[in-house]
Amino acid sequence: MTDESHDLHVRNGLPAEFRYLEAGCARQDWPGLKLHETASHWLEIHGWFRGMLRGLIELGGERREGRLDPAAYRADVMPRLRQFLGNLDGHHHIESDSYFPALAALEPAMKRGFDLLDRDHEAIHELMSQMADAANALNHAAVVDLNPHADGLIAAIDRAAPPIGRHLSDEEEIIVPVLTLRGDPFRDARP
Ligand SMILES: [Fe+2]
Ligand SMILES: [Fe+2]
Repeated sequence: MTDESHDLHVRNGLPAEFRYLEAGCARQDWPGLKLHETASHWLEIHGWFRGMLRGLIELGGERREGRLDPAAYRADVMPRLRQFLGNLDGHHHIESDSYFPALAALEPAMKRGFDLLDRDHEAIHELMSQMADAANALNHAAVVDLNPHADGLIAAIDRAAPPIGRHLSDEEEIIVPVLTLRGDPFRDARP
């Protein structure tokens, strides 16, 4: 059973029922804690996605304010967006196909939390398709049509960024405590 208030496009943070591990491992404690190495690596990867998203939004802002013409916007945005989407797709596969099931086996009480993150991935996949379609349209647009297609891509990126940011943050608040308290099932020696 899913709760509609848990929907990525609706919720304002990680629901309380998935916060039961955070005593002693809440986000505000992370800087002073020895987090699991994999958790720290995860945070770095998410930092890269956040930085890329910020850059894509700034680029759209420059276009909107007229500091970039549509052709320059197209030349700048295409390789960055391709890299962002490719890496995000790969990251989601590693999470949904490998880590989430393995971590849910280590921490069965969090199974529904991992299900929530899987549903987020599906919602984000739709947003990624919309960005890819808009990029494709801009890529193949005739010169006279560059402007509206650039606007279309800027809108698709602006629409996708907040839910992706929400997901990154909520996922960290599940993954970091589970990895730090239970270990990495793919790296740590089992007794
Ligand atoms: Fe994720
Ligand atoms: Fe992630």
